[in-house]
Amino acid sequence: MSQQSAKMWSGRFREPLDATFESWQRSFPFDWRLVPYEVEASIAHARAIEAAGILTSEELLQMEEGLRAVAKQHAEQGEAIVTANPQAEDVHHYVELELTKQIGDLALKLHTGRSRNEQIATDMRLFVRDAIDLTLAGLQSWRSALLDLATNAGEAVMPSYTHLQRAEPVLIAHWLLAYVAMLDRDASRLTDARKRLNLCPLGSGAVAGATLALDRTIAAKALHFDAPTPNSMDATSDRDFAIEFTQALTVFGLHVSRFAEELTLFSTAEFGFLELPEAFSTGSSAMPQKKNPDLLELVRGKTGRVIGNATALMVTLKGLPLAYNKDLQEMQEPLFDAADTVLALLPLVAGWMKAVEFNHERMNQAARSGFMNAWAAATYLVKRGVPSRLAHEQIGKAVKLCLEKRCELQDLSLDELRALNPAFDETFFDCLKPDSVLAIHDVVGGTAPARVRQGITAARKKIEALREEVHAHA
Ligand code: ARG
Repeated sequence: MSQQSAKMWSGRFREPLDATFESWQRSFPFDWRLVPYEVEASIAHARAIEAAGILTSEELLQMEEGLRAVAKQHAEQGEAIVTANPQAEDVHHYVELELTKQIGDLALKLHTGRSRNEQIATDMRLFVRDAIDLTLAGLQSWRSALLDLATNAGEAVMPSYTHLQRAEPVLIAHWLLAYVAMLDRDASRLTDARKRLNLCPLGSGAVAGATLALDRTIAAKALHFDAPTPNSMDATSDRDFAIEFTQALTVFGLHVSRFAEELTLFSTAEFGFLELPEAFSTGSSAMPQKKNPDLLELVRGKTGRVIGNATALMVTLKGLPLAYNKDLQEMQEPLFDAADTVLALLPLVAGWMKAVEFNHERMNQAARSGFMNAWAAATYLVKRGVPSRLAHEQIGKAVKLCLEKRCELQDLSLDELRALNPAFDETFFDCLKPDSVLAIHDVVGGTAPARVRQGITAARKKIEALREEVHAHA
């Protein structure tokens, strides 16, 4: 018979907990998913207390084996462990109760010199570290899908917009690379946050440090942290890593939401730039003709959730004096939800991207009208020595004439053009063609085809670098 008490803290209490309060304050219904991290962190701590002489090497082995059995149970039963263990207050309590079932009262030595405050701080760091690695892998597959589409688009053109008005023609590939650039920043933010979080809180105790002279590098190494955290008060109450992670997810969310919005627009009959993939769209129960961009709409909607989660974390932390406060328990669910939301959406967006079909013909057509060659036309005059302000004015007048005549710049006669400026000659009409317009944007990051090809190559290299980085962590 074990001497274990029902609670981890009941010694000084005369009265039992109010039953409603008891179930309300439990975190096990959501922190159960931290079991694998709690087990790894417990093994790391067991090694540290063995080195400090609290456990024999034989006991350590037994402890490790017992803890691995607890992890196995979680892996096999999943969320069912919650209903099966109504007495477990939180993930820490659950692991201790289960370990006691496995190895008897030896389990009661595991908590030597440690506190749940440092444990939950450690478990959450481990969770975020894994979530970052998974998010990076997900970003990678979406980036690959974008780059494949960009490569396949070759030199096909589309209009670009400013103020949502037709601006200049660009390569479809150039437009897709804009999203790749956003995802690059997202990946870099996550990688950066990962570096900062990779310190081990174990050994920080409840607030002032462990009550035993533990070698903190033992646990840090066992958990693949770079080093122990430098201050116990900060370590037990710091949740910056969760905030940074959800903020990085928020910015990613803004990107994916803009993408969803833009592609929804492009899928309308008014634009007609793409055919929605049936596998990712639904119909209307009322209007038989409808095919709706549900995936894009839900992606846009879910971004609101991620922003809400990041906000919840910040607001929860902002009023807390040092060090641990129970409020911190409330930061778990928004954190989990943000990670779950993004991790579920990433492969779907990548799948949608692979299935979507662009209407190159229609995009090309749209890139040929609406005076999108007007700036190139002004540049033609500038190259003939006309000051750019005057060239702008004269092409503006040519556009006005076209608007009256309901035509495009290339439809004006040389006489009409020469009336505006005698510098015009036959070569002007060449410079108005979409290919010529693209070609003059020959700068790093511009839409000239050679520059776009460079952009694709550079982006592929980055993907390789990221792949290696993800491997290095695995
Ligand atoms: N379930 C708690 C949390 O998530 C664990 C830490 C509890 N610590 C305490 N002193 N009651 O924050």
